[in-house]
Amino acid sequence: MAFKVGLLGLGTVGSGTAAILLDPAQRHPLLKELKIHRVGVRSLDKARAVDLPVEQLTTDLESIVTDPEVDVVVEVMGGLEPARSLMLKAIAHGKHVVTANKAAIARYGDEIFTAANAAGVYVLIEAAVAGGIPVIEPLKQSLCANRIQAVTGIVNGTTNYILSRMQSEGSDFNEVLADAQRLGYAEADPTADVDGLDAADKVAILASLAFGGRIKLPEVHCEGIRSVSAADIAYAEKLGFVIKLLATAKRDAVGEDEAEQLQVRVHPTLVPKSHPLASVNGVYNAILIEGDPVGQVMFFGPGAGSGPTASAVVADILNIAAILKVGRDTVVQPDGKPLLDPLLACSHQHYSKITPIDELVTRFYARVLTQDSPGVIGKLGTCFGNHEVSLESVVQTGLRDDSAEIVVITHYVREGNFREALAEIQSMESVQSIASVLRVL
Ligand code: NAP
Ligand code: HSE
Repeated sequence: MAFKVGLLGLGTVGSGTAAILLDPAQRHPLLKELKIHRVGVRSLDKARAVDLPVEQLTTDLESIVTDPEVDVVVEVMGGLEPARSLMLKAIAHGKHVVTANKAAIARYGDEIFTAANAAGVYVLIEAAVAGGIPVIEPLKQSLCANRIQAVTGIVNGTTNYILSRMQSEGSDFNEVLADAQRLGYAEADPTADVDGLDAADKVAILASLAFGGRIKLPEVHCEGIRSVSAADIAYAEKLGFVIKLLATAKRDAVGEDEAEQLQVRVHPTLVPKSHPLASVNGVYNAILIEGDPVGQVMFFGPGAGSGPTASAVVADILNIAAILKVGRDTVVQPDGKPLLDPLLACSHQHYSKITPIDELVTRFYARVLTQDSPGVIGKLGTCFGNHEVSLESVVQTGLRDDSAEIVVITHYVREGNFREALAEIQSMESVQSIASVLRVL
């Protein structure tokens, strides 16, 4: 029996996927039963990284998602539209869908999974988060006996590469970004990566799987790495930390009723050098999952790239092919709807409540430039104290542009209180600027 794959896209991930499908030797035997049926692209004239008969290529992507012969549609074209509409149309035509498109899933997951459940088809997304690292299936299956407490990850390779180089070279952000673009590690338009938006899409997906509720993307607090300076990295180093762009999803219990909420956020963070995520450098990704009773489990590996991402895409195709092979897709419920495997299908019906960032309780690092005059540190301390912000350390190592540079690390404080203290500090006559504020893990 052959399972027919309709591929939407033959770029980085599509080519990698086709390369595996065309060369099944020494991989899982079921791969030999997968056939690329048709491939949708934008341009028929482009040179391709894989050798496919030209008649398999088409620019008419609708004809793929409606083709009665196609069993699985693999969406690796990216972007929001027409990817969203094509996935919905594939589902409406009874096709299973595999996608690497975190942007579309983070925004339209509700619509796509609701349609898939109604149609009795699977939408699998292993490649959408952390490329080649298996993390979606472990959250859905291998770790499903656990009460997950937190998922903390480095899920964007571009920013991790930039921060790692800033750390090792002492260079500034703009300098490293320009070089990363020249070397092809960062996109010409780096916005989605460096402003944290790509990581926000990914953590929204991880939070949804870890905690069993859908996430409204605009509620994910998101800060990128543009404001991280060489000075902050150097101070962090002296204080025993490295700076990483962390994506965090965590259970929280706040508010008068102590109702369960989630923290879902992306921001640069001072990570203690002894923490498992501190040594994840370069383009690598890692995700630390904390669950009861398993404890800490960390997944590490390549978060992007043709081969690694295709590895995840093909695993999803194989999961679906295995279901089709044993006829599990033909088992129906009493109401006549196809019975979906509850460990593979999306079972979330509600939206999770997200803790507003002001309610977050965390530690902070702040770098303040002040006049170099007696009593300034005392005034800063008083100001923090006025807002119930307790300081763990205060460091003044020298002058920067004739200003005294004072670095503080707080104990755990409510973010709202800390921001109020900063507003008061900003208005002090002896304070020139608050050069940076970062959270501390
Ligand atoms: P890519 O290299 O730009 O490839 C996109 C492919 O889709 C190209 O073959 C392009 O056709 C085709 N395409 C795009 N829009 C189209 C349209 N409107 N009509 C017809 N064909 C269209 O992208 P990619 O890097 O493979 O990424 C694909 C998806 O995987 C994205 O959602 C991305 O976020 C996700 N992803 C990528 C990576 C990675 O390492 N690259 C890792 C994880 C997830 P032409 O070739 O004719 O232009
Ligand atoms: N742009 C992403 C990154 C890769 O830098 O990690 C695709 O998810």
